[in-house]
Amino acid sequence: MSDLQTVHKHITAPFTGTPIMETVSNLHGLRTVIGRWKREGHTIALVPTMGNLHDGHISLLNHAREHADRTIVSIFVNPIQFGKGEDYEKYPSTLAEDKNKLEKYGLDLLFTPNLESLYPGGTDTDTRINVPELSNILCGEFRPGHFSGVATVVAKLLNNAQPDLAFFGEKDYQQLLVIKRMARDLCLPVEIVGLPIVREPDSLAMSSRNAYLAPDERRRAPEIYRTLKAAAAALRKGGKSLEEIEKSAMDRLEQKGFRPEYVSIRRTEDLKLPTAQDTRLSILVAAWLGPARLIDNIKVRLKLTGFKGSE
Ligand code: PAF
Repeated sequence: MSDLQTVHKHITAPFTGTPIMETVSNLHGLRTVIGRWKREGHTIALVPTMGNLHDGHISLLNHAREHADRTIVSIFVNPIQFGKGEDYEKYPSTLAEDKNKLEKYGLDLLFTPNLESLYPGGTDTDTRINVPELSNILCGEFRPGHFSGVATVVAKLLNNAQPDLAFFGEKDYQQLLVIKRMARDLCLPVEIVGLPIVREPDSLAMSSRNAYLAPDERRRAPEIYRTLKAAAAALRKGGKSLEEIEKSAMDRLEQKGFRPEYVSIRRTEDLKLPTAQDTRLSILVAAWLGPARLIDNIKVRLKLTGFKGSE
C-alpha cells in the first residue's frame, strides 16, 4: 500500500474549529509526517494507547496539546505485553468511537500501526528490551514478561515518532517508572511525563478493563480505592508496621469479594521497599474482581519518618 493510500485526512465540520486529524497506519507514513514537522521546527508530543479511549486518555491528550506544537496519539494493542491466557484476544477494540472522540478533542496525527509494521520479524524471536529490577516486582511478579513487552513497544513508538514529550497515566505507575528507566538507559531524547489518575465519580480508576465488570461487580469495584485510602490513613497515623497495614488491606479486599494479588507499600521514587528515612511512599494494589484484574495506587507523604518496625 502506498503512503498516499495510508494517509487519510479527516476534516471535521469547519464550524467546530477542531483541527485537521491525519491517520497513518505504517511507519513510512509516520516518518514522512514527523520529518515534515521537524523541518518546520515543531515540538511533538506522543500519547501511546491501546485504544478504547476514556477520560484518562483524554486528559493525557489535553496535556499533550498544551505542551507541544503537534500531538500524536497511537492506538495499538500490543500482543507481547499480554501473557498466555490473558485478555489479548478480547481486549476491547473501539476504533470508530475512538476516532470520533479524538476528532472532538483535537489532535494532529492518529497512528494505528498493524502488527507487521511494529513486529516485522514476528513476535516469537524478536528483539526485546528488558528493564531489570523494576520489571520483576509487583505486577511483574504476576505477569512475567509484561513489562518487557511494554518497554519494547514503547521504545519502537518513541524511536519512530521522535517526540519531545510522551505522556502516560499514573494508574499504571509501575509501567510509568519502567518506561522512564528505559528512556533514561537507552539515552532517548524524550521527556516521559506521568499524569494523575482520572477516576469515575464513585472513585474507581478509569480503565478499559472496567468494561469486563458485571453490574454487581462494578458497584463493588470502588472498594479498591476505599481500601487504599484506609491504608494511607493507617500509614499516616503511625503505630503499625507496613506488613500489618498491607495485610489488613488484603483481608479487607478478600472480605469484599476481591482476589487480591498484592497490596504493597513502596518508595514512590523507585518502588523499592521503604526505609525509615523515606517519607514519600506509594501504596499499590492489584486485585481481581470477577473477570477483571484491577490496579490502583495512592501516594502518601509522611511528615515524620519511622513507621513501626522501620528502625
Ligand atoms: O498503558 C497502555 O495503554 C500500554 O501499556 C502502552 C503504554 C500503550 C503500551 O502498549
